[in-house]
Amino acid sequence: MQKLVIQGGRRLEGEIAVQGAKNSALPIAAAALLCDGESRLENCPKLSDVYAACRILTNLGCRCEMQENTVTVDAHGMHASEIPEQFMCEMRSSIIFLGAVLGRMGKCTLGYPGGCELGPRPINLHLQALQRMGVKIHEENGILHCTTPNGLHGARIHLQFPSVGATENILLAAVTAKGETTISNAAREPEIVDLAGYLRTCGACICGEGTGTIVVQGVKSLKGCTYRIMPDRIVAATWLAAAAATDGEICLRQVKSSDMASILDVFEEMNCRISAADNRIYLHAGKPLKAVRLMKTMPYPGFPTDAQAIMMAALCRACGTTLVEETIFENRFRHVDALVKMGADIQVAGRVAAIHGVRSLHGAAVEATDLRGGAAMLVAGLSASGETVIHDVFHIDRGYDSPEQVLQSIGAEIIRT
Ligand code: EPZ
Repeated sequence: MQKLVIQGGRRLEGEIAVQGAKNSALPIAAAALLCDGESRLENCPKLSDVYAACRILTNLGCRCEMQENTVTVDAHGMHASEIPEQFMCEMRSSIIFLGAVLGRMGKCTLGYPGGCELGPRPINLHLQALQRMGVKIHEENGILHCTTPNGLHGARIHLQFPSVGATENILLAAVTAKGETTISNAAREPEIVDLAGYLRTCGACICGEGTGTIVVQGVKSLKGCTYRIMPDRIVAATWLAAAAATDGEICLRQVKSSDMASILDVFEEMNCRISAADNRIYLHAGKPLKAVRLMKTMPYPGFPTDAQAIMMAALCRACGTTLVEETIFENRFRHVDALVKMGADIQVAGRVAAIHGVRSLHGAAVEATDLRGGAAMLVAGLSASGETVIHDVFHIDRGYDSPEQVLQSIGAEIIRT
């Protein structure tokens, strides 16, 4: 198993071009199977999750290949509608293929996506919405057999919770369904806006994405297109946190600062100096870093749950006490033990954590627990004095494209072994 070895305590300084967004590339890759002809998805990050999505597309009969950062998908030859168990276990977000396969094939068989490190990952909102659109679902031994005996039709759907995945699955089923679909209390994340942008470029009729109400008019067919995936706002937050945690100075290119307002607000509250143009962000670490009164994760445009662990790592040495409230996932403080092992002073009670700033962290051997927890250990290791070894790096590779090379380019002493 690979690991990352970091000699911490070095000030990070320099410029980084931010990778494309994993959480946009995955649903857009699924959407490509709805289209006649070829789609070229540019700015795709080289991640294990993206490779997994390509394997699913190939397994369904699509032609799918990745050259550098461009994924090409031609769904002309698609002949299957089953997503095998091993894919659902390998990547729970494979659930996002359900809506697209139903739209293209009128049926889909797939396993329940397993729970993951963040806790049970129910899909009731996905299934309830699809049933309102004419999908019949029969579950047997953990396998979902979905059919559309009378075809997919539009529906009025209200989401009890603005689920990102459910909103994406409804969009993917609605774009070629018969009639109009309205989603109220829809997720407003930038990745939803990017998916809608791709679908519209392919000929879909969508309005309201990015607001709480999205309206889709089903069209007869979609045509593949060339589309550039948006920048990854969580990876951008990670590099900013690394600079903030090492008294550093960093400039990010190819980043959409307007997607990151809630994150930048937290860095400013931490006494960092931030300046942001439309596709650049500059951060100068605060001296000293200050604790944040309350960091509460919320659906977009609130503070994103995916940035919670990363920001906690940067706050370990901030003066004062920060309260963190994780409102989205049940079990998203699994990285805390590793931070405490590195000298952080953090108490957890249910979904709330209190971080009391300490003067310094020290290196340790830790195991990445999940994707963003692993990224938090990376930030803490860069900030700690001495050597940190992060095991189970495969978690981090799901969402970060060559993290060690990116960090080396701004002065980090980090190697992958
Ligand atoms: C997406 O997951 C992201 N994944 C997650 O990023 C992100 O944390 C999450 O949105 C929230 O922003 C991808 O885009 C691939 P949800 P998703 O449906 O769609 C509950 C990362 O680190 N819920 O908005 O699964 C659910 O249990 C990953 O890149 C139901 O109860 O998130 C959770 O508590 C981690 N029933 C909450 O909603 C449902 O049917 C948010 O889930 C669906 C969700």
